[in-house]
Amino acid sequence: MDEIRIKRAPRIEAEINVSGDKSISHRAVMIASLANGPCVLRGFSASADCLNTIVAMRALGIKIEQPEPEVLIVHGKRRKLSAPKEEINCGNSGTTMRLLAGLLAGQPFSSQLVGDGSLSARPMGRIIEPLRLMGAKIEAGGKNETPPLRIEGAPLHGIKYTTPVASAQLKSALLFAGLFAKGKTTVQEPVGTRNHTELMLKYFLVRTHKDEHGVSVFGDHVPESRDFSIPGDISSAAFWLVAAAAQPGGHVLVRDVGLNETRTGLLGVLVRMGAQVREAIEDVDQVEPRGIVEITGAHLKATVIQGKEVPRLIDELPILAVAGALAHGTTMIRHAQELRVKETDRIAAIAHNLRSMGAQVVELSDGLEIHGRAPLHGARLSSFGDHRIAMAFAVAGMFAEGETVIQDVDCVATSYPGFEKTLSELVNPKGFRATTRVISLSHTRPEED
Ligand code: S3P
Repeated sequence: MDEIRIKRAPRIEAEINVSGDKSISHRAVMIASLANGPCVLRGFSASADCLNTIVAMRALGIKIEQPEPEVLIVHGKRRKLSAPKEEINCGNSGTTMRLLAGLLAGQPFSSQLVGDGSLSARPMGRIIEPLRLMGAKIEAGGKNETPPLRIEGAPLHGIKYTTPVASAQLKSALLFAGLFAKGKTTVQEPVGTRNHTELMLKYFLVRTHKDEHGVSVFGDHVPESRDFSIPGDISSAAFWLVAAAAQPGGHVLVRDVGLNETRTGLLGVLVRMGAQVREAIEDVDQVEPRGIVEITGAHLKATVIQGKEVPRLIDELPILAVAGALAHGTTMIRHAQELRVKETDRIAAIAHNLRSMGAQVVELSDGLEIHGRAPLHGARLSSFGDHRIAMAFAVAGMFAEGETVIQDVDCVATSYPGFEKTLSELVNPKGFRATTRVISLSHTRPEED
């Protein structure tokens, strides 16, 4: 297994592009597959997770060409999917498995979804229960409703469902099932989660409705084939944004990144911690806002991350925990129990690795208490097979005395295949194009409570 070795980094001054948003890429492929003709998707995330979704849709009879790693031509077949010849392997991707389960529940054929060791331990009860309420015949083969999932296609009917956990994957599974259900399917969320599925359905001219009761879809709509351009992934940019934020005078500019406000909770946190953050939305033509983010670093101060903010930065909590360790004071992360059922138990993994680097951390059932500004020292760390843990601690290594080794980093390709290249350009900036260009930005994000 590969490892990454990192030494303390010089001051960061860089302009960075990140590859396409992973969440949006999954949805774009799935919805384009249902459309009434070919759709060209640009800026696709060539991550292992999203490649799993391509393989899955091909197994369901959809022709998908990939003339370049980030360009797909998806030949939508008017909602006509074919029975897969064998089980569909979703790899490490919870999004692939949960969204597909929704899509497959109402098909006139049976299917089986399997995953790798990590995915096979993740909870599927949260989708099984409401899908059954819609009429689905779906069973989990593992203990405590874990994969594999066996789905016997069945006629579905719309329901109104309030989600017990804040999960965009759960919401999206139900909306996809709703496209093949009789009547109207409404999902109400006590705490809002990323809204890419709703936006993408709208973009592909599928009727949706949103009000105080939730978001609804109606069965029998065929998405209209259209081309779509996917913005850069703010969750990948997050690693460099935090790296710059934690260096007084550090500076990073990320172009063409997704700025959907259901995903940008990180920026508000970095403002509270004392960094200068500027974002400029340059384009909303294709429903997903995209633009520039620029960060100038400072001596960070501790903050509290909790409540409704959590789903808006759920995937950024590993790197924000690292920011907490580099900040003055005690950073609290609460209401983040979902981290325990991600690719690994991220609360335990973060606590373990931060302690190995010399930080004082208290593990809470739903988060972490991080006592900041202990000097970090290099250590041999595990990724726990989790891409975001690997990348967050590679960034921590940029601030540590001595060498940090992250073991088992193949998992980085799950979401961000270009990560190591950018890391080495930042750590060894010789020959790297540092930007001195002055750009105009339309607004500064106000400090949030
Ligand atoms: C995702 C939703 C989130 C997030 C995951 C991607 C999505 O998961 O953590 O990385 O694309 O819908 P949950 O829905 O489980 O919160």
